[in-house]
Amino acid sequence: MPKDNPKIEHLRHLREQAKLGGGERRVKVQHDKGKLTARERLDLLLDKGSFRELDMFVTHRSHDFGLEKNRPLGDGVVTGYGTIDGRPVLVYSQDFTVFGGSLSEAHAEKIIKVMEMAMKNGTPIIGINDSGGARIQEGVVSLGGYADIFLRNVLASGVIPQISLIMGPCAGGAVYSPAITDFIVMVKDTSYMFITGPEVVKAVTHEDVTFDELGGAWVHATRSGVAHFAVDTEEDAIYTVQKLLSYIPQNNLEEPPSVTPKDDPMRMDEELDDIVPDNPNKPYDMKEVIQHIVDDGEFFEVMPHWAQNIIIGFTRLGGHSVGVVAQQPAVLAGVLDINASVKAARFIRFCDAFNIPLIVFEDVPGYMPGVAQEHGGIIRHGAKILYAFAEATVPKITVITRKSYGGAYCVTNSRHIRADLVFAWPTAEIAVMGPDGAVKIIYKRQLAAAEDPDALKQKLVEEYREKLANPYVAASRGFVDDVIEPHTTRPRLINALEMLRNKRDTNPPKKHGNIPL
Ligand code: HXC
Repeated sequence: MPKDNPKIEHLRHLREQAKLGGGERRVKVQHDKGKLTARERLDLLLDKGSFRELDMFVTHRSHDFGLEKNRPLGDGVVTGYGTIDGRPVLVYSQDFTVFGGSLSEAHAEKIIKVMEMAMKNGTPIIGINDSGGARIQEGVVSLGGYADIFLRNVLASGVIPQISLIMGPCAGGAVYSPAITDFIVMVKDTSYMFITGPEVVKAVTHEDVTFDELGGAWVHATRSGVAHFAVDTEEDAIYTVQKLLSYIPQNNLEEPPSVTPKDDPMRMDEELDDIVPDNPNKPYDMKEVIQHIVDDGEFFEVMPHWAQNIIIGFTRLGGHSVGVVAQQPAVLAGVLDINASVKAARFIRFCDAFNIPLIVFEDVPGYMPGVAQEHGGIIRHGAKILYAFAEATVPKITVITRKSYGGAYCVTNSRHIRADLVFAWPTAEIAVMGPDGAVKIIYKRQLAAAEDPDALKQKLVEEYREKLANPYVAASRGFVDDVIEPHTTRPRLINALEMLRNKRDTNPPKKHGNIPL
């Protein structure tokens, strides 16, 4: 290329200028906070050398507040496309060094352009958020920009995977773009999300709270359920996104990527035969069950710190991606409560939208009793998991390891709501309620009149357990397709998924359903 061509020199100069963002001083401030710059983050996220930037020469169109004298190239957001593990993605990365990454009309237009490209081409979109919110000097034009982005987020939902990395502030209405996306990854100590900041909170409710206590990564990963992942560093956040993408397809019309399994699909695991304790009230760790069964014991858990009585995440069986939903007997006995239902339902709908089969491990004593749950709307929220399982048309397989009681039996991917296959371990107990509760109700008078009520109760409990709290009543009706030896679970699941590979099922034509929100 001729070096002395002034036009080419000019282009190179402009590019260099754009790459400086808000300048060295602000880049240093960014680094001093332990944060990377917008471009450094993209370099880490994308395959080496794959990034192609768009709209590098876009500038804002403000003429007020002195902004007319400062029109940095790119206007605070780096957008474009590249690849992750060889697969194309569209990206945007807000540059806090330029006007605090605040969103102007032009900045919004750049984001919308890559969102629309992602939708048209069936490509995931990843947004890196690090922004002071609406560009204050632009007023309503900036607000319009946000609303325009929200609309694209909604239209893209269920069409392409949308992933948000929060790597700095994300406040006010700006939170609603990530909120609509499928997954939110936050970085501890340097990122926060809230509708109104600590100062407004103090003025309105007189509560004293820090940025981190109000909307830090840990709060959103453990208490609000807003963040799917909270990690220690920006590098960890980027690795999380790369790993996540490895399980999911490019769009709703594609199958998820598969790998050649290293783990023998026919592998049996004898340890599973003794994993469920004899005492039905003793907990065990369902994550161990999952790890014994799936390829190489590798389970990528989503929302690991919120509503831990239910487990959700991705893994592979025979090299194929599956989504796992499992009750966790080690936390609150695996009971279904409001948060567990909400957590599972959204995950089930993601998997269904993106053709990822669902594997369910069930050990659930029922729905959570209590005034807080009832007044919190467990009727409405608890319906979500039922709705999500029932409407899902991807292959759906349930393995009942132990308890399956009451309403929780119905809603935890039972055959009645279109599970394709339900397997039970011999330790399964499937009935209207647990033996203790049942005996107290149906033998109330006999127990009251008994000389030794405790001895009678024990006898009746044993009788009930033998008659009803086992897998064979359900199996005799065909509600359970087979009672299997636990060590055979892996080959049985892989085998079943093979059989279901070409499953075609549909829902009645409609504009959309009305999930109880
Ligand atoms: C224009 C902004 C800006 C904004 C920050 N800056 N936020 N410029 N519009 N919203 C500029 C600052 O003037 C500063 O410029 C540079 O970015 C860095 O900001 P600092 O304040 O120095 O950084 P820091 O101390 O790290 O504080 C970050 C911050 C703070 C907490 C985000 O900047 C802040 O409170 N900003 C305003 C947040 C806000 O209220 N936004 C509107 C929310 S409402 P210089 O030139 O000095 O480097 C909203 C509505 C969305 O967003 C509606 C959607 C429906």
